[in-house]
Amino acid sequence: MSIRLMEATDVPIVAAIEEQLFSSPWAKEDFYHELFNNPFARYYVLEDDQLIKGYIGLWLMGDQCQITTIGVSCDEQGHGYGSQLIEKAIQKSLELHYKNVNLEVRVSNRKAIALYQKYEFKNVAVRKNYYENHEDAYLMIKELEG
Ligand SMILES: CC(C)(COP(=O)(O)OP(=O)(O)OC[C@H]1O[C@@H](n2cnc3c(N)ncnc32)[C@H](O)[C@@H]1OP(=O)(O)O)[C@@H](O)C(=O)NCCC(=O)NCCS
Repeated sequence: MSIRLMEATDVPIVAAIEEQLFSSPWAKEDFYHELFNNPFARYYVLEDDQLIKGYIGLWLMGDQCQITTIGVSCDEQGHGYGSQLIEKAIQKSLELHYKNVNLEVRVSNRKAIALYQKYEFKNVAVRKNYYENHEDAYLMIKELEG
């Protein structure tokens, strides 16, 4: 298993996984935009047996890391890949001496919330009507030593 920076040639595979996972998936162009036009963005893919199993997007800004997206392909969930990706975000944030790692998650997304709680992210706020379908989001933060 390895985690490496996402490259342009990975985007079609990542976008296909994204489409399996999300009701409003990002298009390939959204990922290209992040890779080429957003100086704060760092996107990673997780490979095992030379196949991409998952990905994570980070915005590294100021003194905090925002997780913009995380996904593990449907057939590959429950094998620890999501945990490895979160650990990558935390490790990167520690290297940069950031104060925290944060993200927004649908209040109904039990699996993802369980993953974040495993790494001691705390619910700090509810963002009302955050998603297109008016669902609320939790803002979850993991404080770091900084
Ligand atoms: C959330 C997601 C990335 C987790 O990836 P994963 O590879 O399945 O995660 P892991 O196998 O590392 O499991 C991590 C933790 O999630 C929780 N979890 C896993 N499967 C679960 C399930 N079926 N029900 C509840 N919690 C579950 C557990 O706490 C688990 O830790 P443990 O195995 O040590 O107990 C994956 O489910 C996914 O891609 N979901 C769709 C996209 C998504 O919702 N992204 C988050 C947007 S904010």
